[in-house]
Amino acid sequence: MLVLGIETTCDETAAAVVHRDGQGQGSIRSNIIHSQLDEHRNYGGVVPEIAARAHVELLDGVIRRAMEQAGVSYAQLDAVAAAAGPGLIGGVIVGLTTAKAIALVAGKPLIAVNHLEAHALTVRLTHRLSFPFLLLLASGGHTQLISVEDVGRYRFIGGTIDDAIGEAFDKTAKMLGLPYPGGPEVERCAAAGDPTRFNLPRPMLGRPEPNFSLSGLKTAVRIEAERVAPLSEESVADLCASFQAAIVDVVIDRIRVALAGLRNSAWKPRALVVAGGVGANRTIRDALEAVSGELAMPLMLPPPELCTDNGAMIAWAGAERLARGLVDGLETSPRARWPLGEVAAPT
Ligand code: KG4
Ligand code: ZN
Repeated sequence: MLVLGIETTCDETAAAVVHRDGQGQGSIRSNIIHSQLDEHRNYGGVVPEIAARAHVELLDGVIRRAMEQAGVSYAQLDAVAAAAGPGLIGGVIVGLTTAKAIALVAGKPLIAVNHLEAHALTVRLTHRLSFPFLLLLASGGHTQLISVEDVGRYRFIGGTIDDAIGEAFDKTAKMLGLPYPGGPEVERCAAAGDPTRFNLPRPMLGRPEPNFSLSGLKTAVRIEAERVAPLSEESVADLCASFQAAIVDVVIDRIRVALAGLRNSAWKPRALVVAGGVGANRTIRDALEAVSGELAMPLMLPPPELCTDNGAMIAWAGAERLARGLVDGLETSPRARWPLGEVAAPT
């Protein structure tokens, strides 16, 4: 089946065409992403109103390019999928309404995809992996450990009680005078820094529930930055490296706790999977490789360009849902808030 996927929940205007064969094997026919970095750079973060307007202006062209590159017509599609939330509501409305219009005119089913579900299922587009698996979803807006038990069946294992990991990267970057988005910048600066120079806290380390808390770490970075001000290039690099090292320690510890809790359950994971923009971080990926080897738990990482927001993940989640007969009516509403636990499952 061929599915067009549309993603507009944050600051990426994206569309893609993905194919899923009878064996559940996926392939990407096109994957067009317009990152609105220039539109938001001067504000140090995503401005919802600017994002919504940019989606309106960009989306038609992005979809046209995705269809052209895939070399398919609307008549050849089996469904049209769009992220219907959670996210910035203006953008979600633009994407979902466009998808409804295409579905209506082309006479194809609409699939309203949960953006988090799309991150969760992306790994099955690139790897042969059956359920269940443990997912670390770490992006700018979300940090959750989820037991992915089937399409539509997601069990929350733990999450952040304050900032998301990507948000902590972004805020740290801002404090240190680095541009937005902060994650890749902090990673780049950290490569030249000394991760042991600043003794930063590892919040939640050793706690029995696999939750995260990152606001204290962010505050500690600010206090250290103020202590050594004015900031030299070396201090910025050392702060980035020390911050990243603290994040790595916390992530690995929390994953160990989550895996230990699932080891004897009926849902013992077959693999550990990471999704969301933070999954693009090389140091975090390397640490995960190490813990995976040690615990003999296979690690499956989608390629970095599929970890950050994209249309292929929406199209793929649409195909996975369509394969189970899950389609949505044209009356489906966009949702700013949409926990994974409220996603419809096959009956
Ligand atoms: O999944 P995503 O593209 O968008 C959503 O938030 O849904 O994730 C973006 C987040 C941003 O906070 C960004 O700073 C972070 O992922 N990120 C990274 C890296 N690349 C992106 N964080 C750490 N290291 C990176 N290399
Ligand atoms: Zn995302």
